[in-house]
Amino acid sequence: MVLAKEKIIENEIKPHVGRIKKMVDVPIEKKEKKVPTIMDLPGVGAATAEKLESVGYSDLMSIAVASPGELINAVGIAEAQARKMINAARGMLEMGFESGVDVLKRREKVIKIKSGSKAFDDLIGGGFETGSITECFGEFGSGKTQLAHILAVNVQKQDPNAIAVYIDTENTFRPDRIKQLAEGAGLSPEKVLKNIMVAKAYNSDHQMLLAEKVEDLIKKQGMNVRLVVVDSLTAHFRAEFIGRGTLAERQQKLNKHVHALLKLADVNNLLVYVTNQVSADPAAFFGDPTKPIGGHIVAHASTFRIYLRKGKKGSRVAKLIDSPNMQDGECSFYVETNGLRDI
Ligand code: GTP
Ligand code: MG
Repeated sequence: MVLAKEKIIENEIKPHVGRIKKMVDVPIEKKEKKVPTIMDLPGVGAATAEKLESVGYSDLMSIAVASPGELINAVGIAEAQARKMINAARGMLEMGFESGVDVLKRREKVIKIKSGSKAFDDLIGGGFETGSITECFGEFGSGKTQLAHILAVNVQKQDPNAIAVYIDTENTFRPDRIKQLAEGAGLSPEKVLKNIMVAKAYNSDHQMLLAEKVEDLIKKQGMNVRLVVVDSLTAHFRAEFIGRGTLAERQQKLNKHVHALLKLADVNNLLVYVTNQVSADPAAFFGDPTKPIGGHIVAHASTFRIYLRKGKKGSRVAKLIDSPNMQDGECSFYVETNGLRDI
């Protein structure tokens, strides 16, 4: 009898133990660990989720910080549904008000990337801040591209695992220059070059697409992107939209691009460094010849705006304009083979 009982356990119950355990354990485990995805949003089924993902809305955060208009354009849903989705995503992420302490905690994560010139860093509060867009505008040869190269190296000096993304619209990225600057910073030129992802943008649409692709580098490839350079932000837009008739369209497109960059900076705690020309010919580009292209759109999105110009004896002068928490001021420095040098 006893033997028979054991046999029953052996033959008929034991084989099922694993399965029964699974039935009991797994749902509980899953319930505890489950992270909400875009599939959990109201009105999002597999098809909509796929559409959203294909245009870069792959997680709740990207939906939560989107505008209804963006979602409508991206996946062709109705406005009411777009609003519902955004609100639900915000609810799931518990966004909204946060205490000053939380803001402070977030601010503590901000990295200030050094320029190499103490005077310059002091001017902007200690360095180029992640989580922001910093715009440098100025005439040709004022040093905007040099600064882009310097930041791409220095970000790696401060964080050896940092990746810099360089969106090059003017074909002025120079690996040789990076090598010099890396040596100047005491870093391995090969390693520094390896950690700069360069893409040439052939027109404004391509430029916008590349900016969106940065999200993939971070999310899909797990890259620790801390800097995104767009040099120049406005050149393609300026070349493609000529004449007063196209101004509104240009600004609309530029607006979209700049907001995508702002989101990238904010969500991923990275610095977006953009360069911008000044309108050299007032008759052709309507307005103050020392005003940057793009007008209020770029101005509103940039946390820091720096006006660069050539100074005395080959120096460069940086002027801070409209900063949220720093006094407007000026400083001078030299651009040298090793990097920036204070005067
Ligand atoms: P545009 O793109 O034409 O609007 O100008 P930009 O503001 O980007 O100018 P860029 O940063 O290319 O500055 C060019 C200037 O930087 C040159 O005229 C040089 O004075 C300086 N420069 C570039 N490379 C070096 C270098 O290796 N050593 C030194 N000392 N200076 C350099
Ligand atoms: Mg340049």
